[in-house]
Amino acid sequence: MILTFTPNPCVDKTVFIDCLTPGEKIRGTRCTCIPGGKGNNVARAVKRMGRRTVAVVMVGGHPGAHVVDMIREQDSVDVVPIWVKGRTRTITTVLEESIHRQTPLFEPGSEVTGDDYEATVRVFRGHAHLAKVIALSGTVSDRSAEKLYSDIIPIAHEQGVKTILDAHGPEFVQGLEQQPYMVKPNAEEAAAVVGYALDSDEARSRAAAWFHDKGIRIVVFSLGPEGAYVSGEGAHFYVRPPRIEEVNPVGSGDAMVGGFAIGLMEEMPLEETARLGCAMGAANAMSWDIGHFTREQVEQLQERVTIET
Ligand SMILES: Nc1ncnc2c1ncn2[C@@H]1O[C@H](COP(=O)(O)OP(=O)(O)OP(=O)(O)O)[C@@H](O)[C@H]1O
Ligand SMILES: [Mg+2]
Repeated sequence: MILTFTPNPCVDKTVFIDCLTPGEKIRGTRCTCIPGGKGNNVARAVKRMGRRTVAVVMVGGHPGAHVVDMIREQDSVDVVPIWVKGRTRTITTVLEESIHRQTPLFEPGSEVTGDDYEATVRVFRGHAHLAKVIALSGTVSDRSAEKLYSDIIPIAHEQGVKTILDAHGPEFVQGLEQQPYMVKPNAEEAAAVVGYALDSDEARSRAAAWFHDKGIRIVVFSLGPEGAYVSGEGAHFYVRPPRIEEVNPVGSGDAMVGGFAIGLMEEMPLEETARLGCAMGAANAMSWDIGHFTREQVEQLQERVTIET
């Protein structure tokens, strides 16, 4: 089973409109609402591929209960809620269909109290051993919780569970110190950590070595439509998606993490794992809705993914 952990989920609403005119009353033509947060996107992607997944989420208030209901009912994913004091945020994205532009509006994140933090570590400890792979995704909502990933990664490792850390900022940097099994920053996120742009083969290889030196076994730099640079098990290569019509790439990194989680769980060879992750990322980018692809679609794309050494 693949467990996903989302410390900062949200009610993720998208209102489709023709064109945004500030100051005017604007009526939507369509509205979608999904359980947001990067780990929840990973869980949805894994579930779409027919694998078992459990979503662990820190949630609070009515929006938190809504997130839990949506994970269960819309995504058909098992969920373990960790109830916290603060209210789960809602992110509303205004999507202008006429010009293909999205404007997300973020509510501020809520405080994580000492009790919330302790409960989170406790619940994580109680569930980690059930998984073969755990994906830890996204930011934390409160700077006081920056140590969260570095506190819970060792709990997973003690129980022999592989971890994938996909975050940015101080929580990512601190989490790296506990040697997650795999990381998948995009080029920008990786550059922020190593301190230089990943704009050449040489820079990517140097950056991968930097992460490996920390004890991280599999390093993946995702490069949007260009695919990803993959380094691990003594090999490094690019995995390239076929050309697709991109509609919305938001969440493609999460879908890719889902593919790698499946590969690690099923002990697939690294190239095959990368092909699956790449195809899932591409499939996600082909529609507006995050993670709403089919297994057949991914399998077709997978045949057209290439490996470049
Ligand atoms: N337009 C595209 N065409 C084909 N494949 C794509 C496209 N965009 C993304 N992908 C696939 O998805 C993977 C992850 O995408 P990307 O690098 O954009 O992740 P990300 O920035 O972490 O995204 P997010 O954090 O929003 O999930 C890429 O490595 C690639 O394989
Ligand atoms: Mg990402």
